[in-house]
Amino acid sequence: MVMILRKEEIIDLLNEDFRRELEATMIYTQNSFIMENCDPSRVTEAIAVDEMRHMWWLADLITKRGGKPTMEHQELDFGGEEIEAMLQKQIQLETEGIKRYTHQIEIIDDDEVVGVLQHILAEEKRHRKEFRERLEKSD
Ligand SMILES: [Fe+2]
Ligand SMILES: [Fe+2]
Repeated sequence: MVMILRKEEIIDLLNEDFRRELEATMIYTQNSFIMENCDPSRVTEAIAVDEMRHMWWLADLITKRGGKPTMEHQELDFGGEEIEAMLQKQIQLETEGIKRYTHQIEIIDDDEVVGVLQHILAEEKRHRKEFRERLEKSD
């Protein structure tokens, strides 16, 4: 069943996506500085850049529909001091994103939004795979 969401409801969903992408960008940037291991650090840094691109894509969808992206983020949870804890946190963030985007693709009846969310979703799946591979190598 496709729910008919009002434009304001779509903007609200996209704004929460935007906030989560902002938080992921900051968390991954910080973690990439702290991780001592070269390969996971570089991967985390590169993925932080992907998350920032997701912010731009979402901001574009939001502003085109008359909304304004919210820059207010919640308290940041970096996962911990150890690389395993950071990677686990990052995997958790990707999993949450995958769940949200998968659901939104099902309920949003707006081809442009769905197209962008499908693109983002594919990248989040790749990110989770990348982080999982680094976590497996770390123990
Ligand atoms: Fe993202
Ligand atoms: Fe991601």
